[in-house]
Amino acid sequence: MGYDARFRVWRGDTEGGELQDFTVEVNEGEVVLDIVHRLQATQAPDLAVRWNCKAGKCGSCSAEVNGRPRLLCMTRMSTFDTDEVITVTPLRTFPVIRDLVTDVSLNYRKAREIPSFTPPDDLKPGEYRMQQRDVERSQEFRKCIECFLCQNTCHVVRDHEENKEAFAGPRYLMRIAELEMHPLDVADRRDMAQDEFGLGYCNITKCCTEVCPEHIKITDNALIPMKERVADRKYDPIVWLGNKLFRR
Ligand code: SF4
Ligand code: SF4
Ligand code: FES
Repeated sequence: MGYDARFRVWRGDTEGGELQDFTVEVNEGEVVLDIVHRLQATQAPDLAVRWNCKAGKCGSCSAEVNGRPRLLCMTRMSTFDTDEVITVTPLRTFPVIRDLVTDVSLNYRKAREIPSFTPPDDLKPGEYRMQQRDVERSQEFRKCIECFLCQNTCHVVRDHEENKEAFAGPRYLMRIAELEMHPLDVADRRDMAQDEFGLGYCNITKCCTEVCPEHIKITDNALIPMKERVADRKYDPIVWLGNKLFRR
């Protein structure tokens, strides 16, 4: 059965903005993105929102609902009380372009900085062979839809603009871990993860894992194993001796 819901939606641009109040019709089975679309159709035709698939698969409609990072298309209206005021705001970690649309290009830059898959020189395409368990491990990470909810949630950058340069964020540290665990990748990504992509900033709070719509165990299956690999390297006596000699 339909009802009228109260919404507070952030409207603004790079210069600033504010929450605006709306009362809007809600019908059975709808998600927050349906309500945003109804607002566009009836009361706020210039309201900016990014979306694409409406099926939780493109990662475009990320925003914050009542302060929690979510996909607008996967957040059911039935999870809220009918008399609840629902606040919809843009991702907090990234600069606003307009209304609910943020500039997430930092993530694409971080992605480009990661050296790509590096197979051995003498291995030709068609000769790649992997154990099934190695395939399954990377398949979990490859479920990522690049919604950047984890990047938005991580406290290392959420309120710390100054950390953005030095920290790649959970999504890209996971990418480095995926490549590091790949049995056919010959690049050693351990020093790189620590020194260039800021793995040391992560204190395994698992906030990124909690918001991942694909339920990827980012912290347990990517970040912690990567930290263990980095620690192994640091405390490897041969590496330690090499570092000492090199420094002389
Ligand atoms: S586990 Fe690490 S990457 Fe994930 S939210 Fe916590 S500090 Fe950030
Ligand atoms: S790891 Fe999960 S939360 Fe992070 S970008 Fe990928 S799908 Fe989104
Ligand atoms: S519109 Fe594609 S994930 Fe929401």
